Order: sequence, then C-alpha cells, then structure tokens
Amino acid sequence: MKAIVVTDPAAGTAGMKLTQRPDPDAARLASLSGASYGDVIVEVHASGFTGNELEWPSTWTDRLGCDRTPSIPGHELAGVVTALGYGTTGLSVGQRVFGLTDWTRDGTLAEYVVVEARNLAPLPGDVDFTVGAGIAMTGLTAWQGLFEHGRLRAGQSVLVHGAAGAVGSMVVQLAREAGAYVIGTGRTDHRQTALTSARTCSSISTTMPWKTSAGSTWFSMSSEARSRSGPPAWSEPEEHW
Ligand SMILES: NC(=O)c1ccc[n+]([C@@H]2O[C@H](COP(=O)([O-])OP(=O)(O)OC[C@H]3O[C@@H](n4cnc5c(N)ncnc54)[C@H](OP(=O)(O)O)[C@@H]3O)[C@@H](O)[C@H]2O)c1
Repeated sequence: MKAIVVTDPAAGTAGMKLTQRPDPDAARLASLSGASYGDVIVEVHASGFTGNELEWPSTWTDRLGCDRTPSIPGHELAGVVTALGYGTTGLSVGQRVFGLTDWTRDGTLAEYVVVEARNLAPLPGDVDFTVGAGIAMTGLTAWQGLFEHGRLRAGQSVLVHGAAGAVGSMVVQLAREAGAYVIGTGRTDHRQTALTSARTCSSISTTMPWKTSAGSTWFSMSSEARSRSGPPAWSEPEEHW
C-alpha cells in the first residue's frame, strides 16, 4: 500500500515521504496469533494529520519505549472496514466508520490502517468521509472539556474562546445541544461561518456585537483593541437571554 512515513524526528514535516509499505495481513489478523485482539483493517478514505504530532514521543516509539520507525503519522480517519480481527465485536466488513488510532501505532496517512474496533464508530451514510475524519479529535477534545472536566449541565453558561476555531466550533455546537447558554469570542469573519454551521443559531446580526436568536452571544475584539498594548477591550453584547 502507499503510505507517508517518517524516520527522522529532527526533519519535521520535510521528512514526510510517500512510499510503499506492506499491506496489513487480514489472515494473520483473524487468527489467534494475530497482531492484536479486537483489531480491524480499514480502507482509509480520508485522514487527519495534526501539525505537531511529529514532536510527540509516541510518533517515534511504541508503548515499551522502543524505536518504531519508519512510522506512519496521522490519527484521524474515516473509511470502510475491510477485515475483522479475532475478537472484534460491533463492526462488520463493508461498514463506514470514523475514529482515532492509537498514538503509538502506525496511523492513517496510508491506504489501509489497522485499528482497534473500540476506537471506531459508525459513520452515517449522509456524512462525507472528509467530515468524518475531521471531527474525531476536535469532537473528543470538546467533549472532554465540556462534559468530563467541566461537568456541563443544561442551563449553565459556557464561554468559548476561539469559538470559530476547529475545537471552538465543536464546543459551541455540543454546548448548545446540551442546553447551555454559549458566549463565544473570536476575531475574524470566521465567526459567521462557525455560527451558521452550528445550526442552533437561527439568525445572526452582521453588526458587532454578534447576537443570535438561539441563545448565543458573540463578543468581538476590534482591530484597534488588538493593535494596542494592554488588556483587550471587548464590545458589550446588546442583551442577554
Ligand atoms: N484541533 C484539535 O483536534 C485539538 C486537540 C487537542 C487540543 N487542541 C488545542 O486546542 C486549541 C485550539 O486548537 P484548534 O485546532 O481549534 O485551533 P484553530 O482552529 O486554529 O482555532 C484557534 C482559534 O483561536 C483563535 N485565536 C488564535 N489566536 C488568537 C489570539 N491571539 N487572540 C484571540 N483569538 C485567537 C482563532 O480566532 P479567529 O478565528 O478569530 O482567528 C481561532 O478561532 C489549541 O491550543 C490546540 O493545541 C486542539
């Protein structure tokens, strides 16, 4: 299979090379002496790569701390299951899936990847593979922040800094789904895109401050405030719900 591999931790992204790697072995995976209990093989249709993962120790060593180069980066994926390993439950061959691969194993910048079934979820038929590959890490980050660390409950307020960003836009949507009052901060026109894509916001004021009729308020930092030193000056919302 074709894959992008890295071999030199000092080379950065310049060291990423497209090369040929052995296909995952479905027969071995399905045997009792297979690679790992509960693994499946996925044909990768879309993959996500995080810029700084080449600085993560797990890109270069396995769980025992042993060198595992050449390693294949990328951990987000969406694709189709092509083989089931011994002990796999909950998935079937041909199923559309998305998820995250283990940090210490070969990743998703490849035509095929071996991944634990528990790290995958069904991808609905009306969701593009590219969208599926783009939501696993940001969605998990947002979920952990809101619900595992923040213990968010309906009716509470959430302040989302960088609300138009990859993680921020997920936080906005999950918090609104959970019945929270959401306040977002942002600097650019990306705010409108993020608010529109949140689908929980039925109208948007194009004059600052931003306000939606669905219970979210946006504060914006003016270019004048950004360019001077000292604490940022935020515009006031017109009203709260
Ligand atoms: N992406 C992931 O899967 C992931 C996973 C774990 C942790 N993280 C961490 O989560 C954070 C956000 O990541 P991301 O992927 O969401 O990044 P991103 O898509 O680049 O979004 C960053 C957001 O921060 C805002 N921002 C950046 N610099 C700013 C500044 N000087 N003042 C005010 N706002 C500023 C941007 O606002 P504008 O849109 O207004 O420019 C943007 O909305 C990072 O610390 C990242 O390391 C990300």
